[in-house]
Amino acid sequence: MAEIIITGEMKLSDIVESDKRALVLFPRFGIELGFGDKTVADICTRREIDLQFFLLMVNTFLNPDYFPDNQLRGVDVDMLIGYLVESHNYYLEEKIPYLQSLISGFKNKVDHPAVVQLEKFFDQYIEEVTDHLAYEDETAFPYMAMISAYQKKTDSPLGQVDYSVNIFEDRHDNIQEKLSDLKNLLIKYFPPANDRYIRIRMLNELIDFEEDLINHARIEDKVLIPVVKQLEKQLRLKK
Ligand SMILES: [Fe+2]
Repeated sequence: MAEIIITGEMKLSDIVESDKRALVLFPRFGIELGFGDKTVADICTRREIDLQFFLLMVNTFLNPDYFPDNQLRGVDVDMLIGYLVESHNYYLEEKIPYLQSLISGFKNKVDHPAVVQLEKFFDQYIEEVTDHLAYEDETAFPYMAMISAYQKKTDSPLGQVDYSVNIFEDRHDNIQEKLSDLKNLLIKYFPPANDRYIRIRMLNELIDFEEDLINHARIEDKVLIPVVKQLEKQLRLKK
């Protein structure tokens, strides 16, 4: 697929035409379909979305080669956390339930003992993902939002806080790796069965989820963590 760089002058509908994966990002910014011929810049103004931040997130999502370190290092932590939380909500409320419904549809259709192991493997994986997201939502992100709030004021809270972004960095594991095991199970090892298109649908969804998670982890590891480290450093200097 030819990679294009999305700009503020482009129509939102043209972005969808050129890469349908963009659709999933709109709800994360509160953009609803039915936007007519409006441009990205128009929509961002109406929705009070920071245009540069929107473009950064869309372009890094659609194009793995697009990763302008300098611009990304300058992003506002609160905007970034808002975006990541919205992505988590999408995984938890939309993507995972849909994957679960496909697995149970597969189970109902395919009469093979291996389906029990497949379901077990999938359930364990979902539990791992859910724990990972819950830790970020309940511990890591609130800490980051708190230090960002202090940074925007004048005093430093770091003396009293028993947490740092290093702790998050150390325990931030890779949740997309097991997804490729699950994919391989369906592509290579699950025996031929009369599953028709449901296995293909599951694979398409898993591939889509995997791409989303890879981008998500990249934003967390390469942008969020360095930006928060920088904030922590500034706060220590203020002390
Ligand atoms: Fe994460």
